[in-house]
Amino acid sequence: MLTITFLALTISFTVVSGASNSDKVHQTPPEMVVAIESRAMAPLKCSHSIQDYNRILWYKQKRNDKQLQFLGYILLEDAKPEKGMAISGSAEKDQIAMLTIQNISMESSAVYFCAASIHNAEPAFFGKGTKLTVLEPLCNISPPTVVVLPPSEKECRDRKKQLKKTLVCVASGFYPDHVGVSWTVNGQSVTKGVASDHPALRVGDKYQITSRLRVEAREWYTEGTIFTCNVSFFNGTDTFNTSAEVYGSGDVNGTQTDAMTREEFVKVTQTAKLSYIVMIVKNIVYGVFVTILAWKLGIGRSHATAKK
Ligand SMILES: *[C@@H]1O[C@H](CO)[C@@H](O)[C@H](O)[C@H]1NC(C)=O
Ligand SMILES: *[C@@H]1O[C@H](CO)[C@@H](O)[C@H](O)[C@H]1NC(C)=O
Ligand SMILES: *[C@@H]1O[C@H](CO)[C@@H](O)[C@H](O)[C@H]1NC(C)=O
Ligand SMILES: *[C@@H]1O[C@H](CO)[C@@H](O)[C@H](O)[C@H]1NC(C)=O
Ligand SMILES: *[C@@H]1O[C@H](CO)[C@@H](O)[C@H](O)[C@H]1NC(C)=O
Repeated sequence: MLTITFLALTISFTVVSGASNSDKVHQTPPEMVVAIESRAMAPLKCSHSIQDYNRILWYKQKRNDKQLQFLGYILLEDAKPEKGMAISGSAEKDQIAMLTIQNISMESSAVYFCAASIHNAEPAFFGKGTKLTVLEPLCNISPPTVVVLPPSEKECRDRKKQLKKTLVCVASGFYPDHVGVSWTVNGQSVTKGVASDHPALRVGDKYQITSRLRVEAREWYTEGTIFTCNVSFFNGTDTFNTSAEVYGSGDVNGTQTDAMTREEFVKVTQTAKLSYIVMIVKNIVYGVFVTILAWKLGIGRSHATAKK
């Protein structure tokens, strides 16, 4: 019977998420980071505001795993937890149901979902989950470093076929893996054309995440357009944002400035100024040299003419 419930729930999770009732199941906190030494942890909370629903089920979804592991349920105030779990509270509308993981281990790192239901046959509605990370010993909490890379030169030059440009945001060096990436163009939030890694990539004892933003070529070529990548990071107590940006290139012909950030552009402009000065100085020196040469030759010729 549990298997059937599980299947039904897995299906409804796919089918129903997005339905209005999904917004009626609330889970707190959204994120949690605990030290392995702590052993005990604060309970995960779940409440719903769906009339007549009286059962709350708990599930665990491990990283890189699509399967949900059943952790137990509570019907009204009657809890039926699986081994290693403690369930309490009430499953009634506007009440709070709680899940406590008894013995924290590295295996406890996962996203925990609650679902509100009424009978096995009814659809269940899932909350948004609580992402829990049990800190690995010796891994230090570290916020991300964010950079935005402008469209690659190759893509820029291929302008007949490429009507779109891809900007890449790379957030690296963070631990634990509790980040969110979002983009803004001139301060306006954008979601269209955004593709982010899921999950983040493990690099040594840190994580890295990449997000791509595809924009219309003309948007990229609008000088002064600001493309910002915002990365929010949860360090166990606070969530804060780190952002990086690039400016649209005003040059439609895909020359050098295309693949540059503003800093680089300023640097190059300064280098260009310097080269220009050097060139002028060179020209003056050369001009003086030529004048002297011409003058000498002129004298020579006038001598020759005089001899004739
Ligand atoms: C939790 O840990 C304690 C002490 O290490 C142990 O006695 C208990 O059996 C463990 N419980 C579970 C459910 O693993
Ligand atoms: C992006 O970051 C900037 C600078 O930190 C901030 O002002 C802005 O509110 C952020 N935008 C979003 C949508 O998070
Ligand atoms: C998390 O960030 C806040 C604010 O920047 C800081 O006060 C706190 O000490 C940080 N916590 C950890 C565990 O690094
Ligand atoms: C941080 O970023 C998130 C998502 O991008 C946004 O909702 C929030 O307003 C930002 N906070 C600040 C202080 O910029
Ligand atoms: C781009 O190139 C075309 C022809 O090569 C030229 O006419 C045009 O002025 C250039 N535009 C810019 C912004 O450099």
